[in-house]
Amino acid sequence: MSQQERGNFATKLGIILATAGSAVGLGNVWRFPYMAGHNGGAAFIMIYFVCILMLGIPGMVSEFIIGRHSQANAARAYHHISGGRRLWQMVGYLGILTASIILGFYAVVAGWCLQYLFASLTGQVSGEASYVQDYFLSFSSHPWKPVLWAVGFVLITHFVVVKGVQRGIERASKLLMPLLLVLLLVIVAASCSLPGAMAGVEFLLRPDFSHVNSSILLEALGQAFFSLSLGTACLCTYASYFKRDTNLLGSAVQIALLDTLIAILAGLMIFPAAFSVGVEPDAGPSLIFITLPNVFQQAFAAAPVVGYVIAILFYALLVFAALTSTISMHEIGTAFFTEELHLPRRHSAWIVTAGCSLLAIGCSLSVGAVEGLGLFGLSLMDFCDYLTAQIMLPAGAFLTSLFVGWFVDQRLVRDEFTNNGTQSLHFFRAYQFSVRFIVPLCILLIFLHQFGWL
Ligand code: TRP
Repeated sequence: MSQQERGNFATKLGIILATAGSAVGLGNVWRFPYMAGHNGGAAFIMIYFVCILMLGIPGMVSEFIIGRHSQANAARAYHHISGGRRLWQMVGYLGILTASIILGFYAVVAGWCLQYLFASLTGQVSGEASYVQDYFLSFSSHPWKPVLWAVGFVLITHFVVVKGVQRGIERASKLLMPLLLVLLLVIVAASCSLPGAMAGVEFLLRPDFSHVNSSILLEALGQAFFSLSLGTACLCTYASYFKRDTNLLGSAVQIALLDTLIAILAGLMIFPAAFSVGVEPDAGPSLIFITLPNVFQQAFAAAPVVGYVIAILFYALLVFAALTSTISMHEIGTAFFTEELHLPRRHSAWIVTAGCSLLAIGCSLSVGAVEGLGLFGLSLMDFCDYLTAQIMLPAGAFLTSLFVGWFVDQRLVRDEFTNNGTQSLHFFRAYQFSVRFIVPLCILLIFLHQFGWL
């Protein structure tokens, strides 16, 4: 299929915004602040930053090289660049499967955000602290409401994806990403202007190294991979729509910086408000659904309208962030079925939508309505989370790194890295060293540690 038929991103800005849209998601706005809160604030952020620089950026460039060179869906891209070896094609399949499972449980949380957006518009999530807690618990375990929101979210994603790369993905990203940044800045400003807010800022920016231990290192690494959308051939699929003259290293650096900036801004949005009303910053999964509605209410008690508006903006922000991410997960499978089964794009998108909706229904039910729906003692939702984030994703990144570092023709890698010699070769050696040794070794360490062998 020619590049014209496959579609591609029209502009450089579109490339950056769409890929950053994939990276920026619930991982940044919810998971990162909570992890930083739990792990000593700035100390965690510094380690996270090192992981992004040393492992994340080389990982991104590797996926970019595979995708941009092959201009095909993930499975075909790995197959093509390996010179037709079936084994490596499996890494592409693994990525497609991982992304689809992630979409299944991610849509459940995204659906909650959508529900909270409507609930905060109609003023339903305001009241006593215990009321907000009950609200969340009864909503998330309701037999069909959260299921409908989750499936609704997959459908919204579907309708963006069927519109195609330029008219769907690129256009949505160009609209949603700037909006997201503006909303974020407005809430950060409101949060930081509260009395006592500086304690929150200080917590986030002053390193406390007493918390640092090996598990923080590993958590930072896992968070960095998830946040950059690494390890599922997601970046590989997006890179197949890049232009031939896109500077791969430059784009990776810009996207990683934007992703990190947004994560830190999300921290600056949550902690100052939380400290201002004396709420512990490490509430975990319930942070954005139980703690924050209370925080907004109490913090702006003097001007309830401001609290009301801030809550709406906050959930709108979460929905936008989640949507640009679910689009990227959906596109991986859609591109695959379109090209491998020669189906029209809208048909292949329905295959992904149907499969992921089914999984989302199961995950949603497993959280409350249907007790015992799960595997290995975990609810289906937690099982999917664990399986993808802790096993499949690092495995994908590990194999991709070994693949590009050791098995792909290094002349080809260099030509892609430098756009056939038109870009500087300056960082090539460092990149090569990193994908050959540093990235695989670090991921191996995580694995060994996780299973208690280290
Ligand atoms: N990076 C997104 C976030 O931070 C999630 C995401 C989107 C993702 N696409 C992905 C994670 C592909 C892993 C793989 O929320």
